[in-house]
Amino acid sequence: MGVVLEFEVVVSLQCCSNRKLGRCNMFYIEFLEEVHKRLAPELYVEIGVRNGKSMGRSRCLSYGIDPDYEITYEMSPHVQLFKCTSDMFFDRENLTELFCKRIDLAFIDGMHLFEYVVRDFINIEKWSSHGSVVIVDDVYPRNDAEASRSVNPISWTGDVWKIIPCLKEYRPDLTLLNVDIEPTGLLVVLGLDADNRILAQEYELIVERYVGEGKDRVPVEIVNRVGAYKAEDILESGIFEAVAAMRVAKRRLETGLASLKTT
Ligand SMILES: C[S@@+](CC[C@H](N)C(=O)[O-])C[C@H]1O[C@@H](n2cnc3c(N)ncnc32)[C@H](O)[C@@H]1O
Repeated sequence: MGVVLEFEVVVSLQCCSNRKLGRCNMFYIEFLEEVHKRLAPELYVEIGVRNGKSMGRSRCLSYGIDPDYEITYEMSPHVQLFKCTSDMFFDRENLTELFCKRIDLAFIDGMHLFEYVVRDFINIEKWSSHGSVVIVDDVYPRNDAEASRSVNPISWTGDVWKIIPCLKEYRPDLTLLNVDIEPTGLLVVLGLDADNRILAQEYELIVERYVGEGKDRVPVEIVNRVGAYKAEDILESGIFEAVAAMRVAKRRLETGLASLKTT
């Protein structure tokens, strides 16, 4: 599909069809690094830092949140780490000070359980602008064992994948780009709205509907990554450069994003 965004940027994206598992060339960490380069965020927030592999890619003012981080990668001096859960972080009293700048880019990769991811998304969106980009890791488990709600010590995505149907259902205003990438996919969310309270208002019902006995079988469309875009195609489309340009010019993205959704 070809989409003309403001600033004359043409975004051309095509969903992968007949995905052959294991044929993807790019790993999530390279994609994240490319997004940093192209989006040039002024404020980056990462939930789930572990040893700093992904946080180490950031050069701008960055907040990393993780109750158990143990950094082994080199960090930019602009990184501030918070040793607490994301819920505790977003309960802090000085958030207005920390977020005097809005979040330009966020990476959600903390606790891999659906209800945590919903809360993380709600909290990040409150401090976002319409030009923010949120990336959620691990939305494409490769099998039921990997997607189990009990920690799988070999490889664990948990039931993060449920955020895809949940956002489609409750937030049709958002633009979702599912990314076919190794090892377990990414979801890019655009067109955030800091004033939208739907997810927060419906939170209890959402959890009741998505979590519980018989609700953990990974749908075949998720395992086969139906509707996903190739990571390289998303990067080459110029969408992050377009979002950055619009953010810098403080223009709203609605026109471009609406057409991206409908074509
Ligand atoms: C998959 S690792 C993050 C990997 C890192 N983003 C990377 O790609 O290099 C998940 C991390 O989330 C952290 N975590 C677990 N529960 C959390 C919570 N409630 N809030 C924030 N982080 C959490 C864990 O301590 C763990 O270090």
